[in-house]
Amino acid sequence: MGMEITRTLGRSGIDISALGFGCWAIGGEWQAADGQPLGWGKVDDEESVRAVRRALDLGITFFDTADTYGAGHSERVLGRALGKRRDDVVLATKWGNVFDEDTRTLTGSDHTPEYARRALTASLERLDTDHIDLYQLHLSDLDPALAAELRDLCEEFVSEGLIRAYAWSTDDPARAAVFAEGEHCAAVQHALNVMQDAPEMLALCEESGLASINRSPLAMGLLAGKRQGPKDAGDIRSRPPAWLQGFGDGASADPQWLARIDALKEILTSEGRTLAQGALGWIWARSPRTVPIPGFRSVAQAEQNAGAIEKGPLTADQLTEINRLLAR
Ligand SMILES: NC(=O)c1ccc[n+]([C@@H]2O[C@H](COP(=O)([O-])OP(=O)(O)OC[C@H]3O[C@@H](n4cnc5c(N)ncnc54)[C@H](OP(=O)(O)O)[C@@H]3O)[C@@H](O)[C@H]2O)c1
Repeated sequence: MGMEITRTLGRSGIDISALGFGCWAIGGEWQAADGQPLGWGKVDDEESVRAVRRALDLGITFFDTADTYGAGHSERVLGRALGKRRDDVVLATKWGNVFDEDTRTLTGSDHTPEYARRALTASLERLDTDHIDLYQLHLSDLDPALAAELRDLCEEFVSEGLIRAYAWSTDDPARAAVFAEGEHCAAVQHALNVMQDAPEMLALCEESGLASINRSPLAMGLLAGKRQGPKDAGDIRSRPPAWLQGFGDGASADPQWLARIDALKEILTSEGRTLAQGALGWIWARSPRTVPIPGFRSVAQAEQNAGAIEKGPLTADQLTEINRLLAR
C-alpha cells in the first residue's frame, strides 16, 4: 500500500508530513478556574521529549500545539525536544485563551489585536524560535467580524516575518470561509474522525485551497482501542465537558460509540493495521487535503501512529462500506 509521505499546507505551498503530531496531552495537567481538568492527566516530560524525537526520526515534520496546553508547558517541552532541529519542522500553535502559567489555570479569553501580539511574542519565547509557521486562532466560536480583524492582523504578522501562514481552529465552515479570504490563510483546523465526518468543511477546503488539519482523529483515544474512562482525575476525559463526546459519564465510554467502533473494527484493522492506524487511514482516504494530528504521550504511541503512513489510506470501497455500516 503506502502513499505519498507529504501533503501540502494548503495555499502556503509548504510541504509537511501527511501526519502531524498533536501536543495537547504532553502539556500535562492544567484546569479551568472551577477545577475542571483541561489536560490529559500526568505526563512524563522526558518521555514526551523522547517521543517527539522519535517522531522526527520517523519522518514527522508537522507539530501542532497551543499556548494554553498545560498553560505554556506544551510549547516549552516541544521547543526543548526540537532544539537544533527546529528548522526541520513546520510548527503550528494557537492563541486566544488566557491562562496563568504559575497556577496552570485557564482564566479567560481575549480577542483583541493587542493581546494577539503579546501572545505571539510569548509563544515565540516558549518555543525558542523566531517565527511560527502556522498561527491559529483558538476561539472557535468568535464573532466573524472580530475574527476578520484578527485575520488582517495575521497578514501584518506575515509581512513582519513573525509567522508564515495562519488558520482558524473552528468546526464552522462559514467562519473558516471568513479566514480563507486572507491571502496567507493556509488551513482550517477542525474535528474529523471516522465517527465524526465533516463533509461541508472538506468541501470548503477543496474550494478554497485550504489544508484540513484534523483534531481528535482518534476520538480522544476511543479509536485507538480505549473502552473506559481514564483513572487519573486530572484527565479531561474523566469529567467530560458537554462538547466532549464518546466518554459517557467519564467512568465508562458511551456504549453506542463502542458498538459503532466494534462494527468498523474488521475494516479498520485490514492489511495488518492497528485500530488507530485504520482510523488515520480513513482520514487520508476521505480527502487529499487532510492532515490528521493524533495526540501522543509515549514513544510507543508515536511509533504506532507514525507507522500508519506506511499502511496508507483505506480504499474507496472501504469508505463506502464504512458509510453503509454506520448508515450514513
Ligand atoms: N480546539 C482545538 O484547536 C483542538 C481541540 C482538540 C485537539 N486539538 C489538537 O488535536 C490533537 C489531537 O486531538 P485529541 O488530543 O483530541 O485526541 P486524539 O488524537 O483523537 O487522541 C489522542 C489520544 O489517544 C491516545 N492514543 C494516541 N495514540 C495511541 C495509540 N497508538 N494507542 C493507544 N492510545 C493512543 C492518547 O491518550 P491516552 O494514552 O491517554 O489514552 C492520546 O493522547 C491535540 O493534541 C491538539 O494538538 C485541537
